[in-house]
Amino acid sequence: MEKVLLIIIALSGLSAVSSHAERQYHFVYEAKNMSEAQRYCREKHTDLATVDSMEVVELLNNMAGQYNQSAWIGLHDDWDTWRWSMSDPSFYGPGETEFRQWGPGEPSNGHDEQCTHFHRSGIWGDHDCNNPLYVVCFDVTGPNATFVLIERGMTWTEAQSYCREHHTDLASVRNLADSQRIESSAGGVYWIGLYRDSWKWSDGSFSSFEYWAENEPNYIGLKVCVAAAFNNFGKWEDLDCGVDKPFICYGPVPVKPDMTPEPAVSTVPVVPVSMKVIKVSVENPNGVDLNDPAFLDAMLVEAKKNLRAQGLDDNVQLAWRKQPDGQVFHEEEEKKRDEL
Ligand SMILES: *[C@@H]1O[C@H](CO)[C@@H](O)[C@H](O)[C@H]1NC(C)=O
Ligand SMILES: *[C@@H]1O[C@H](CO)[C@@H](O)[C@H](O)[C@H]1NC(C)=O
Ligand SMILES: *[C@@H]1O[C@H](CO)[C@@H](O)[C@H](O)[C@H]1NC(C)=O
Repeated sequence: MEKVLLIIIALSGLSAVSSHAERQYHFVYEAKNMSEAQRYCREKHTDLATVDSMEVVELLNNMAGQYNQSAWIGLHDDWDTWRWSMSDPSFYGPGETEFRQWGPGEPSNGHDEQCTHFHRSGIWGDHDCNNPLYVVCFDVTGPNATFVLIERGMTWTEAQSYCREHHTDLASVRNLADSQRIESSAGGVYWIGLYRDSWKWSDGSFSSFEYWAENEPNYIGLKVCVAAAFNNFGKWEDLDCGVDKPFICYGPVPVKPDMTPEPAVSTVPVVPVSMKVIKVSVENPNGVDLNDPAFLDAMLVEAKKNLRAQGLDDNVQLAWRKQPDGQVFHEEEEKKRDEL
């Protein structure tokens, strides 16, 4: 079952509702493993939730309300997605970007093993990128590559910079012939250009925001996914991706009929806009129709008075956030929680 609780928006500043920055978050209490949760979010909304600021953390904490366990967000360790430092596709023939000569048990995809070494026997392994190893660079002219072996220890990142400065890049090994040309002059263990990234958002967005709990991530399990723990301020913990958990999706904010038309962003001088979403729960023992427009209006007037009393200026807009079915309030289904 989903719970969507985005109810009042208070905007200070009259310019655009900054819809480009808006996302609506959806809690889904039906427990699923990470890949099933991702599939669900992509089908019904946009994707698993990206949490890229403290504002989003706070929004989710508010939405979680009494829910005090953890829920999947869209972050996972991008294991086993190896790629070459030299990314120009014209350099590779069919299938050549996927050529591999991993040794037995490799790649182990350990969390700190994100770079690839080439042993002089031609066998590859994944390895801690911070270790200093010898380096194979290459010079690329048309379809041909000339390998250059540097017998000086560097970390993988140093090796990449060095090769890009003095040659074309860290070496790609596209086929058996490339491998044999390196083997013929190799005398140790060398970095080559194959690497993988670590933490990735499901929707492919990039963000340097992190909100790990103490001593996290601790890399439980091999395929590692991330949940926000709502008994710990929404902080992140990494868990085995196969565990079934409630999860959080995001999608676009539905058009708000009470705020149309939105001003064209480009014609409005840029005014700093801050938006706050406040969740309101109403106990309703008398069975009043909470979605009655008159009732909603009266509550807005009340809310605006309260915000003014807290020092917000006149330039504040308040509106109810409607949900896709056009209703503002939804009955909370306690039963669903009991089933957890
Ligand atoms: C979570 O909430 C339930 C009921 O509200 C409570 O019984 C339980 O102790 C809470 N658990 C934690 C870890 O806070
Ligand atoms: C590139 O390699 C091909 C095939 O191995 C060879 O025939 C050709 O002479 C090489 N070109 C250069 C510029 O080295
Ligand atoms: C997730 O659940 C689906 C359906 O139950 C299952 O087919 C899949 O193997 C599970 N994935 C993981 C990583 O456990």
